[in-house]
Amino acid sequence: MIERKFALVLAILACGFVIGLESKCPKTCDLALGSYYISSSASVGIDLNLTYIASLFGMKPEQALRYNPTIPNKDYIRTGDRVHVNFSCDCMQDLFLGHMFQYKMLNGDTYERVAKKLYANLTNVYSLTKFNSYSPDMVPSGATINVTVNCSCGNRSISDMYGLFETYPLQSNETASSVASNYNTTAELVQEYNPGVSFSSLGQIVYVPARDPDGSYRALTSKGNLSGGAIAGIVVGAIVILLSIGFVYYFLVHKRRKTKKASLLPFKSGESSVPLGDLSMDASVANAPSPVAGLTVDKSVEFSYEELSKATNDFSMANKIGQGGYGSVYYAELRGEKAAIKKMETQASQEFLAELKVLTHVHHLNLVRLIGYCIEGALFLVYEYIENGNLSQHLRSSGWSPLSWANRVQIALDSARGLEYIHEHTVPVYIHRDIKSANILIDKNYRAKVADFGLTKLTEVGSMSLPTRVVGTFGYMPPEYARYGDVSPKVDVYAFGVVLYELISAKEAIIKSSSNTSSESKGLVGLFDDALSKGDPKESLKKLIDPRLGDDSPMDSILKMAQLAKACTQDDPHNRPSMRSVVVALMTLSSASELWDINHLFDNNPGLANLMSGR
Ligand SMILES: Nc1ncnc2c1ncn2[C@@H]1O[C@H](COP(=O)(O)OP(=O)(O)OP(=O)(O)O)[C@@H](O)[C@H]1O
Ligand SMILES: *[C@@H]1O[C@H](CO)[C@@H](O)[C@H](O)[C@H]1NC(C)=O
Ligand SMILES: *[C@@H]1O[C@H](CO)[C@@H](O)[C@H](O)[C@H]1NC(C)=O
Ligand SMILES: *[C@@H]1O[C@H](CO)[C@@H](O)[C@H](O)[C@H]1NC(C)=O
Ligand SMILES: *[C@@H]1O[C@H](CO)[C@@H](O)[C@H](O)[C@H]1NC(C)=O
Ligand SMILES: *[C@@H]1O[C@H](CO)[C@@H](O)[C@H](O)[C@H]1NC(C)=O
Ligand SMILES: *[C@@H]1O[C@H](CO)[C@@H](O)[C@H](O)[C@H]1NC(C)=O
Ligand SMILES: *[C@@H]1O[C@H](CO)[C@@H](O)[C@H](O)[C@H]1NC(C)=O
Ligand SMILES: *[C@@H]1O[C@H](CO)[C@@H](O)[C@H](O)[C@H]1NC(C)=O
Repeated sequence: MIERKFALVLAILACGFVIGLESKCPKTCDLALGSYYISSSASVGIDLNLTYIASLFGMKPEQALRYNPTIPNKDYIRTGDRVHVNFSCDCMQDLFLGHMFQYKMLNGDTYERVAKKLYANLTNVYSLTKFNSYSPDMVPSGATINVTVNCSCGNRSISDMYGLFETYPLQSNETASSVASNYNTTAELVQEYNPGVSFSSLGQIVYVPARDPDGSYRALTSKGNLSGGAIAGIVVGAIVILLSIGFVYYFLVHKRRKTKKASLLPFKSGESSVPLGDLSMDASVANAPSPVAGLTVDKSVEFSYEELSKATNDFSMANKIGQGGYGSVYYAELRGEKAAIKKMETQASQEFLAELKVLTHVHHLNLVRLIGYCIEGALFLVYEYIENGNLSQHLRSSGWSPLSWANRVQIALDSARGLEYIHEHTVPVYIHRDIKSANILIDKNYRAKVADFGLTKLTEVGSMSLPTRVVGTFGYMPPEYARYGDVSPKVDVYAFGVVLYELISAKEAIIKSSSNTSSESKGLVGLFDDALSKGDPKESLKKLIDPRLGDDSPMDSILKMAQLAKACTQDDPHNRPSMRSVVVALMTLSSASELWDINHLFDNNPGLANLMSGR
């Protein structure tokens, strides 16, 4: 006890040192981009071509072409275009991130002209004044001045998927969403990285997540900032981190000694008992590179065949835990952690790999995490191991004790959150396209995680030679998708509705007709549609409820889930709610104290009704 108190005091002291010593700069990075808006040359009074712009940023014109693949001719650029210049993002005066360029003043140049016209608002008069010893109104022509352009290297507490940012001075009519659309990203993300910025003010700088020329995002690296007096801070910081690890270890592990051993591996996933409503990426927990394992985030992604083979006893039958449409799944003990390795009989293309790297950075409690991959011989995907089987097994296989109703509501809410996350919060957004109970895995705390997201997308990227098969599973496919191949997030909403019906009834999505007559086998959707359209839906619903629920069948709650499932499985995709509203509806269901009637909610809340009907 005394030692612990001592450690606490030490930690507080050390924190004090670190705050005192560490530089205020966030970590630097090798690469940042600047967006140079081409205003009409007439207004600048200079012939704006790529050669000229490159010279402003100390580059050769050929170098400037790298991030401007759409500019075919370096001698001709159009007014209204944006040229992307690259530079390293350094620590300026131990205070903020930027890069210092040099510019030689010509006759008639003023700081204002340099900032607003020549550097297209990538710098400002304030910075020019601050970083040059000249008095602003007496800068001799021919003098070389320092031009500072601010930049960003990302923010781990927002996401570690994005490590390349473009400094973007706004034009007057630009909004978060118009900027986002230029970068094929979402307005939410742009806003998140630019808190407090009021858009549509001319010249205002924002930072936008940008892609490499190959179209992939550059993940946040863990390269440290070693500028100025920061080193001392880092040394003390390391001590603090070690102490904090001890603390976290103490609180997480000793306090719950009965649970399990802590892991210091970089791919350890977060705690599964995070409070409801936490939809954020768990990146901070999961990805902090561990000083013990000594692996950076990037390195943890690629495994050698040898390592995987060793971890699975040469992919022995005894280690095989599943077979899916894409390949076999093996249990592995990899670096002391349990993992599931999916072996796919295919080679990975470059595009495929780029996509995989993005997928390894998507983290959410309710998504089965892709830890890494291996591309020797075949393609292997390494996932976190989820120890308690899939939902289909829990509902229908003997050998599993029946799920309580509360468990089922929680599983519904968890998987809805996983889906909502890939629909709305990742960049690019994903549509799962193969939601079904076999793809919903259950962990030891009976929390659910969605598996296999992003895989259907992989089949489309480049020249993947995956076995061609209809993506999706019969019984879960909405009419617009089965008939015309129309893909939208509402495809997942439909399949999710079918999963809700499965949770209620424990029946398969397609009920095999017992008689072998020609009559088509009936889907779960049709079965429930019939029951719910009866005069007394509760009564007809009772016949469909999983008998294993027994007395644990709160009819109000079950009816509400059935009504939600019905909304999700509407024929017209526009009438289906978004996953976001599904999450909202399931949250009210799961908080037993607040048993709202869904219809009542619709009647009194036109806003939500609209939300739920997708309008
Ligand atoms: N990360 C994992 N942890 C534990 N078990 C897993 C994991 N991933 C898959 N499994 C098991 O392996 C089975 C097969 O998985 P897989 O995702 O390849 O196929 P599927 O979901 O049945 O079909 P499809 O390939 O059409 O999606 C799963 O149903 C599950 O039981
Ligand atoms: C590019 O612009 C510079 C500066 O305006 C000018 O001197 C040069 O001639 C231009 N080059 C071409 C090829 O137009
Ligand atoms: C900008 O990109 C070019 C081409 O890739 C490269 O040669 C140059 O070094 C980069 N500049 C900086 C500052 O990174
Ligand atoms: C920079 O901002 C000023 C207003 O502050 C505006 O007049 C000017 O046109 C902008 N320059 C460019 C290239 O957008
Ligand atoms: C760069 O950032 C610093 C510190 O936040 C700020 O004072 C300065 O005005 C910024 N410069 C530009 C060109 O935006
Ligand atoms: C430009 O910055 C450097 C150091 O960063 C400084 O030594 C130099 O004096 C500055 N130039 C002018 C003109 O002030
Ligand atoms: C990173 O993001 C968090 C949360 O949005 C914010 O509080 C913090 O100030 C950001 N850090 C930097 C360096 O921008
Ligand atoms: C802003 O105005 C310009 C010129 O009027 C136009 O070309 C551009 O499309 C507008 N952008 C947006 C986002 O409205
Ligand atoms: C934008 O993103 C969508 C969806 O992720 C993708 O289909 C499209 O090809 C992307 N467009 C560009 C220009 O990158």
